[in-house]
Amino acid sequence: PELWLIVPAAGIGQRMKAECPKQYLTISGRFILDITLSRLLHNAPFKGCMVPLSAQDHWWADSESAKDDRIQTCTGGTERAGSVLSALHALNEQADDNDWVLVHDAARPCLDAHDLSNLIDTLFEHPVGGLLAAPVADTLKLAGEGVPPEVEKTVDRRRLWRALTPQMFRFGALRAALEFCLENGDAVTDESSAVEFSGNMPVLVEGRADNLKITVPSDLALAEFILSRQ
Ligand code: C5P
Repeated sequence: PELWLIVPAAGIGQRMKAECPKQYLTISGRFILDITLSRLLHNAPFKGCMVPLSAQDHWWADSESAKDDRIQTCTGGTERAGSVLSALHALNEQADDNDWVLVHDAARPCLDAHDLSNLIDTLFEHPVGGLLAAPVADTLKLAGEGVPPEVEKTVDRRRLWRALTPQMFRFGALRAALEFCLENGDAVTDESSAVEFSGNMPVLVEGRADNLKITVPSDLALAEFILSRQ
């Protein structure tokens, strides 16, 4: 099977409160999206890459990636799942249902090259696929409904993991799982949850905890620091 890459970049980044979506903020003069894409394409043998963009996007044309002929773009959806599904549909003619597709957030520029190859090597023969994930480090509290909330209970963290990306699934199975969830209005915030809804259990592949998703303004300096140490 071949490897395909989807990097959803159609979000508008409301939590950042910035002038532009977070994937177009810069670190050392480069768009976060460009850093993310160049690392992925440099470190794994992808057959092709699709980047869903917002219909309102007017930054892509200025990116390094726009000049890279390995990368194609399509129009994303209002939810992340819709963006990924539109990218799968755009690649449908080129890909085989048994191929692998890796989905990685545009806003995660700190992905480690070893984590990427370890994910691919670990899952390549697996029937379903899986995702990079990191064990939870903090003690976790379940909150009650009051304001401010009181602790309802402490959750056993030993079996809890944070879902990271890339997430790697069979092309046809991921398309079917996302189509089903979007038609039925199931809330899915990652590809794995869509696959889980379809009854298949993805594998958790342990990845580095510093594969952070830039979400709030302070994450930018942290990402810059992590990248400077790699
Ligand atoms: O908002 P969140 O941090 O969960 O977004 C994760 C990734 O999904 C980002 O790279 C964002 O651009 C992308 N996304 C998308 N289409 C949407 C919403 C988010 O491609 N409608």
